[in-house]
Amino acid sequence: MTRLFRGTLLHVPDDPFAEQGGGAKRLHLVEDGALAVRSGRIVDAGDATAVRARNPGAETAVTGGWLLPGFVDAHVHYPQLGVMGALGLRLMDWLRQRTWPHEARFADAAFARAEAEGFLAALARNGTTTALVFGAHQALAMEEFFAAADASSLRITTGLTLGDRELPSELRTDPERARQESTELLQRWHGHNRLRYAVTPRFAVSASDELLATCGALLRGGPDGLWFTTHLNESPDEVAFVRNAAPTARDYLDVYDRHGLLGPRSVFAHDVHPSERELARLAETRSVVCHCPGSNRFIGSGLFPLRRHLQHGVRLALGSDVGGGPSFLILNEARAAYETQMQLGEEGVRLDAATLLWLATAGGAHALGLGDQVGDFATGKQADLVQLTPRPGGTLDARLRHAGGADDAAAALIALVGEADVTGSWVAGRRVYPHQ
Ligand code: GUN
Ligand code: ZN
Repeated sequence: MTRLFRGTLLHVPDDPFAEQGGGAKRLHLVEDGALAVRSGRIVDAGDATAVRARNPGAETAVTGGWLLPGFVDAHVHYPQLGVMGALGLRLMDWLRQRTWPHEARFADAAFARAEAEGFLAALARNGTTTALVFGAHQALAMEEFFAAADASSLRITTGLTLGDRELPSELRTDPERARQESTELLQRWHGHNRLRYAVTPRFAVSASDELLATCGALLRGGPDGLWFTTHLNESPDEVAFVRNAAPTARDYLDVYDRHGLLGPRSVFAHDVHPSERELARLAETRSVVCHCPGSNRFIGSGLFPLRRHLQHGVRLALGSDVGGGPSFLILNEARAAYETQMQLGEEGVRLDAATLLWLATAGGAHALGLGDQVGDFATGKQADLVQLTPRPGGTLDARLRHAGGADDAAAALIALVGEADVTGSWVAGRRVYPHQ
């Protein structure tokens, strides 16, 4: 059966950073558009009247609002919904005083299960259909999370978070236990339906060389297609700690690099304070940097040097970094990325709506190795969609009435959209929000 999703279509298929000299159509907007979806895939897209005429037997599943590709969040923490919005603390104090004590509660399987369901519901409610999720430190909590993620239908890549020092004892592991628990989890869940496994040391502060060596062995010895994620160069005191703790390493990135942890399936969150050498090495290895501007501002970590990343050709994605970041909505990250660059003045990159939307959708999908499956409305792609319906009488609704073309409308969406404007999310054509 073919189903029609009718609304204002908005997507950005082509990488705006790769374009030379302009000319290519960047934002694709069809005011009265439709997608025809069969067996979870987009089989037709375009003007609603034409799509309907080409698909005469199709039934209309959805009408109204704006239809965008599902959002991609490349860095968000499962056990941190409960610490969002903690005021007054920079990174290390925030971790020690608020975050780690909360994450210790995930030793309780019933608590972990309820939090897993609540977290995944928050992703779907915010239009995020694909995410690289930073896990909990407890294997049981990750078992609960994988099971809940499988049931959610979302595209989730995640793994057991690992640390063997500079952590409360309840969260600490050791290299052998890390190897054993990670192996059990990845054998059970990696490649199961839409799930993938990511080897996840918390950050170099909390990971000994032995533990990072174990991570490298897991990646090399495991099944194909494993992912790797961690934090990098987020805040000045964290960077200083790593420099002191690893005096023979060339820099923070080298602590990971020495164990073979860089590559096209490695995602490093933040990188607010990189050296030129680190940027060159990230680009050379095709590693991904996940920019988390909302978190960087909320925790006061610094202003992301986007221009330098682009000059080196580093691959990029966007992340909410909940609970360091104050929102699950990836379009809020797009706005925060824009504002951060404006704050940088002459050193900043003037981001336009097409580039921001691309980062939130197709760019994130490419960064997570799913660019051939999701991220835009090309026929043949999976129907991962989000519907935005500005609340009648609200500011976004009022502003959009004045929109002068695609760029202006998309800019207004990015600037003014909120969680309550997300009225539906679908993965492979199946509704994941609101729950039936
Ligand atoms: N570095 C190590 N752990 C964390 C975390 O939970 N959040 C952020 N933002 N940075 C980290
Ligand atoms: Zn993080």
